[in-house]
Amino acid sequence: MGGKEYALKCTLGLILFVVLLWQLETNYFPSNENSTSMIPVAVGRTEMDDMKEPVKDSSKLKIKAWKITTQHGINVTTEGSETKRWLVVYWSTFFGRRLNLHETFEKGDCPVPCEWTSDQSRAKEADAFLVHARDPRPDPPIKSVPWILQTRENPIYTPVLNDASFMSKFSYLKSYRLDSDFPDPSVLLPGVAPPVPFKNKTGLIMAAFSNCEAVRTEYMRQLMKFVKVDSFGACLRNNNSLVGRYGKNKQGTDFRDAKSMLARQYKFNLVFFNQDCDYFVDAQLHHAMDAGSVPVVMATDKLDEFLPGPYLNRSVIKVRDFKSPELLAEYLKYLSNNETEYNKYLEWKWEGYGDITRTAIGNYWMPKYPLYCQVCVAISKGKGPKEGLKPFNCKPRKFEDWGITKGA
Ligand SMILES: *[C@@H]1O[C@H](CO)[C@@H](O)[C@H](O)[C@H]1NC(C)=O
Ligand SMILES: *[C@@H]1O[C@H](CO)[C@@H](O)[C@H](O)[C@H]1NC(C)=O
Ligand SMILES: *[C@@H]1O[C@H](CO)[C@@H](O)[C@H](O)[C@H]1NC(C)=O
Ligand SMILES: *[C@@H]1O[C@H](CO)[C@@H](O)[C@H](O)[C@H]1NC(C)=O
Ligand SMILES: *[C@@H]1O[C@H](CO)[C@@H](O)[C@H](O)[C@H]1NC(C)=O
Ligand SMILES: *[C@@H]1O[C@H](CO)[C@@H](O)[C@H](O)[C@H]1NC(C)=O
Repeated sequence: MGGKEYALKCTLGLILFVVLLWQLETNYFPSNENSTSMIPVAVGRTEMDDMKEPVKDSSKLKIKAWKITTQHGINVTTEGSETKRWLVVYWSTFFGRRLNLHETFEKGDCPVPCEWTSDQSRAKEADAFLVHARDPRPDPPIKSVPWILQTRENPIYTPVLNDASFMSKFSYLKSYRLDSDFPDPSVLLPGVAPPVPFKNKTGLIMAAFSNCEAVRTEYMRQLMKFVKVDSFGACLRNNNSLVGRYGKNKQGTDFRDAKSMLARQYKFNLVFFNQDCDYFVDAQLHHAMDAGSVPVVMATDKLDEFLPGPYLNRSVIKVRDFKSPELLAEYLKYLSNNETEYNKYLEWKWEGYGDITRTAIGNYWMPKYPLYCQVCVAISKGKGPKEGLKPFNCKPRKFEDWGITKGA
């Protein structure tokens, strides 16, 4: 690959990564007070949905498809390759919309020539089909090639993932789970930019979630009895200072900057995921860590696998470690008065990550080849589970799982 071409690739990649970040953030909050009613729990949206949806106009949709294309670099084509090019057809829609996905990797970019397309008319040539779990029907037309199931949503909000007969149709899993064939969580490597110094942080605890799943919301309500929590999302909102800033300019950057600047000012950030399904951890984690606001996490115990190495493994406070919201509140207040103890959670900002290789998340953050290429390689080798995927078997979170009773 020429230096010029590489520079172009990097630049485009960077621009589109920024667009991706914007896309993730833009829909994170309801656009105004009134939209709270648009986020009923009954609909069962996860934060990721809240972030992805709604994409109303086609120009945004195009950006979204680009996002997927460019996560793995633009296509670089060289003529006259004689080896087989492995083709993956993105068969389903993505949250109800057809993607405009066309991506090619030639030898050099990938150990095998590899192509991804959302063009259904190429089904006959496909070496594999991909189906998004939120868009499970119809089945791909050909059974003799492997089917890949993709999800960043958990089974509570995506019931087909708990359905044994549905799951058994697929050979490969591309998902948030780190034990997937192709792990693909929305948690990115958090940045090591220095945090706002302890003494300069003006806020104590910040919360910003808008899918008001009953248990996490109740836990926060009880926590609020013992310590001040500034809630900016739709759940138990007691501070409107972010709401009015949503979408002030077209790119939503005013809002995104506002949220991230705000998080930097807070010592703690409540990162309560919407269910405890194995491995279900999402982008809220790195958002808080990027900002240098210590995450207070309610999550699956597999959380540890997302925090590899000798420093990140000490970077969060786990709700699980406290018998009650009151005891958690006491600990947070204690830390907020002890700079030395508090800063231990942020040591990674100064020390770096340490050795995080040879871990699933480390491989995901620092891949040898792009994920799309990895899929082609696996298909070309014909390996992978032949008898189909197992259901996730996740049950909804209960109050007693977190040691609280409703209304206490
Ligand atoms: C919310 O709805 C009320 C009544 O429909 C309306 O008067 C008000 O302006 C709305 N507020 C915002 C922020 O849109
Ligand atoms: C990618 O490949 C397609 C089909 O080969 C081609 O039409 C398109 O121009 C390529 N895009 C880039 C940015 O090279
Ligand atoms: C922290 O606050 C001190 C005094 O208020 C100020 O001089 C310093 O610039 C601040 N540092 C940062 C990084 O904000
Ligand atoms: C709302 O949040 C802002 C930013 O942290 C803070 O300055 C303000 O005091 C908060 N308002 C209330 C009522 O807590
Ligand atoms: C973090 O990892 C280091 C070494 O990798 C280990 O010594 C330490 O006990 C771990 N800390 C926690 C809290 O798991
Ligand atoms: C902070 O905690 C340490 C123990 O790690 C203790 O030695 C120190 O006195 C505490 N500082 C304050 C200000 O309480």
